[in-house]
Amino acid sequence: MTKRQIPKVRDLAPLMQFKKPSLDFKKNRLAKAQTVYDLRRIAQRRTPKAPFDYTEGAAEAEISLGRARQAFEDIEFSPSILRDVSKVSTGWDVLGAPVAQPFGIAPTGFTRMMHTEGEIAGAHAAARHGIPFSLSTMGTTSIEDVKAANPLGRNWFQLYMWKDRDRSMALVERAAAAGFDTLLVTVDVPVAGARLRDKRNGFSIPPQLTLSTIANALPRPWWWYDFLTTEPLSFASLDRWSGTVGELLDSMFDPTVDFADLRWIRDQWPGKVVVKGIQSVDDAKKVAEIGVDGIVLSNHGGRQLDRAPIPFHLLPEVVREVGSEYEIHLDTGIMSGADVVAAVALGARFTLLGRAYLYGLMAGGEDGVDRMIEIVSGQVARTMRLLGVNSLEELEPRHVTQLTRLAPR
Ligand SMILES: Cc1cc2nc3c(=O)[nH]c(=O)nc-3n(C[C@H](O)[C@H](O)[C@H](O)COP(=O)(O)O)c2cc1C
Repeated sequence: MTKRQIPKVRDLAPLMQFKKPSLDFKKNRLAKAQTVYDLRRIAQRRTPKAPFDYTEGAAEAEISLGRARQAFEDIEFSPSILRDVSKVSTGWDVLGAPVAQPFGIAPTGFTRMMHTEGEIAGAHAAARHGIPFSLSTMGTTSIEDVKAANPLGRNWFQLYMWKDRDRSMALVERAAAAGFDTLLVTVDVPVAGARLRDKRNGFSIPPQLTLSTIANALPRPWWWYDFLTTEPLSFASLDRWSGTVGELLDSMFDPTVDFADLRWIRDQWPGKVVVKGIQSVDDAKKVAEIGVDGIVLSNHGGRQLDRAPIPFHLLPEVVREVGSEYEIHLDTGIMSGADVVAAVALGARFTLLGRAYLYGLMAGGEDGVDRMIEIVSGQVARTMRLLGVNSLEELEPRHVTQLTRLAPR
């Protein structure tokens, strides 16, 4: 029989931890998020369906994205014990300059549609945390405004080669003049991927007010309040457009771009050039031979070719073939700092976060992006400590085994 007693006030007092309730609802909401998936849930509650689906969705049956995330889950870490991990350093040099974390913000189009603070929120947060911010050709904030938001930090400009070459190169010149240090040339969009959610939702730029969007807006009044009471959506680099995103992309992109064009672009840019969207070992080698400074293994977050190669699976062979001194970056499917650490252990110098950033943005604007960076940075440092390493240089392939759920026949 358990012996019981009547509790005394003296014993209860230390258990009572009533804090003064804070009325900063956004702060409370974000503080509760422990993972990027938690931010995603908040984002979904607060963002109308069409822009949320535009962000979250991928091409066709969305198999590329699902597999890429699964590949990160299907690893086994191999820790070393009894190391002094009281100090851990998560920074190193990327493309010749320091970064505080081995991840940065990926270029994303139409960002102010997800949350009206858009790129400025991302650039401010990147500045605060010492990580690079990438502005897309399809961005909704000008090159100069991004520079003003992140004046001392690193800004990268992502280039899509348009049919109108002069306009593309005018952008490149503006980015160089504004002091952007890296040009990301995206090469996996000869035509737009089929984003079926957008077609089903009738998603267009700008969003249309139909009966169903109005019904969907009712529980999300703040998004609409922000959207309607701030500067109308305009693009970093193009004039107004009305139509679906796919139609816009197809009207602009030049499907004839080839390796000769890449060489030409490389010669126009005074800083570092990185080619984004490499999906085979052969192309990685070819592009490295052209003399660009790095590549991003990426399938565009699964938004282009469905059932595309999983970038994280390509990584070890590309490192073997291209050499571990060459800068190999990676994206697609990263949702935690442990994913980032796994990529670095297998030879990636840097990683880019697309949706993780946008979930943070939709969950709480600039504060939400801050929270995302805080969460992912915390996971990076914790994973490194638990693996028994103090620096990114100490991460090695032996720390990660890729389990084979999917293997070629
Ligand atoms: C909403 C959205 C818009 C994007 N727009 C661009 C773009 O304009 N240019 C580009 O090179 N990549 C774009 N991407 C791809 C990202 O740069 C990145 O490759 C991808 O998001 C990485 O996958 P993740 O979302 O799983 O992190 C976009 C991705 C998303 C989710």
